[in-house]
Amino acid sequence: MARISIYGAGAIGCYLGGRLAAGGAEVGFIGRPGVGDELRQHGLRLTHYDGRDWRVPPETIAFSTEPAAAAAADLILVTVKSGSTAQAAAELAALAAPNAIVISFQNGIGNADVLRAALPGRSVLAGMVPFNVIRRGAGAFHQASEGEPEVEDAAALAPFLSDFTRAGFVLRQHPDMLPVQWAKLLLNLNNAVNALSGLPLQQELAQRAYRRCLALAQTEALALLKQAEIRPARLTPLPASWIPALLRLPDALFARLARKMLAIDPSARSSMADDLAAGRRTEVDWINGEVVRLAERLGQRAPVNALLISLIKAAEAGEANWSGEALFAELQTGAGRG
Ligand SMILES: NC(=O)c1ccc[n+]([C@@H]2O[C@H](COP(=O)([O-])OP(=O)(O)OC[C@H]3O[C@@H](n4cnc5c(N)ncnc54)[C@H](OP(=O)(O)O)[C@@H]3O)[C@@H](O)[C@H]2O)c1
Repeated sequence: MARISIYGAGAIGCYLGGRLAAGGAEVGFIGRPGVGDELRQHGLRLTHYDGRDWRVPPETIAFSTEPAAAAAADLILVTVKSGSTAQAAAELAALAAPNAIVISFQNGIGNADVLRAALPGRSVLAGMVPFNVIRRGAGAFHQASEGEPEVEDAAALAPFLSDFTRAGFVLRQHPDMLPVQWAKLLLNLNNAVNALSGLPLQQELAQRAYRRCLALAQTEALALLKQAEIRPARLTPLPASWIPALLRLPDALFARLARKMLAIDPSARSSMADDLAAGRRTEVDWINGEVVRLAERLGQRAPVNALLISLIKAAEAGEANWSGEALFAELQTGAGRG
């Protein structure tokens, strides 16, 4: 049986790994001691917003805080935050089996490249998780929105496809992940807006002023992507290029037309909001930062996304509670300065 290591047992790692284990795969988790204690005490309970439910009993969970636990893995799913990728890559370089397949199931654009550079000769694939996972405590992780994991197409994945199928996942494979990653990143531009709002996603997205902030950030990114000839994949019922217009609609009309976008667990916040609340470094440099770097490569500027980065950095150091109107006014001024 294939051995699968989850490198970075947090929200995404515990959810993906837990479902794979519940489906019968041999899974080992590598993560922090607190998560280990939680899983050893409670096991895992994975729930899906459609009502499905999986359990992994505590006595069957293999958890380690030591990177060396990944040495025997045939497949390694990297699920650390982007700021931890370089360290995870260095740790894996020292011990991953030469024929191990590594998948980055992280947000952003460049994590798989960081892993690839540190792991020459290994098969490193870009992946993407489109749904939100809420960590509820006591080993409970809840998939709060729709979607299936997506991954770069590779023949080397064939031996593991049945593990994903038995876990109830429909693993979507793509010859080129860049359009998929950018499409997700466009949606993730809301993470900063949501973190600055101090509100759950559902309440934030119900307010036009916050949606106009997101529309500004997306419009800026879409123009750069067009210039770079990158066509974002279609992850939503509407093409990515139509979403800013939808976001700018008045509240009542938006609520009618975008029912799916608002069909989120009422308590869910973006992971950037959770990071801010927990005093952790956010992924803003790997999300809005990618837009700024793309602009630089094209000899352009991305003032809205650059400003969102500075506001998040300020929030990392203190309080963040922007009203929609105040944030929109600030971003518009920033865009004007750009
Ligand atoms: N959460 C979501 O709903 C969601 C949805 C889609 C995509 N994503 C993406 O998935 C990735 C993971 O996000 P997440 O929310 O699951 O993060 P997370 O909950 O912070 O989980 C990552 C875990 O890995 C640990 N870790 C970091 N470096 C490690 C290392 N070298 N060895 C062992 N453990 C290590 C972290 O500990 P420390 O905190 O001590 O560093 C943390 O416990 C991110 O790129 C995120 O953007 C998340």
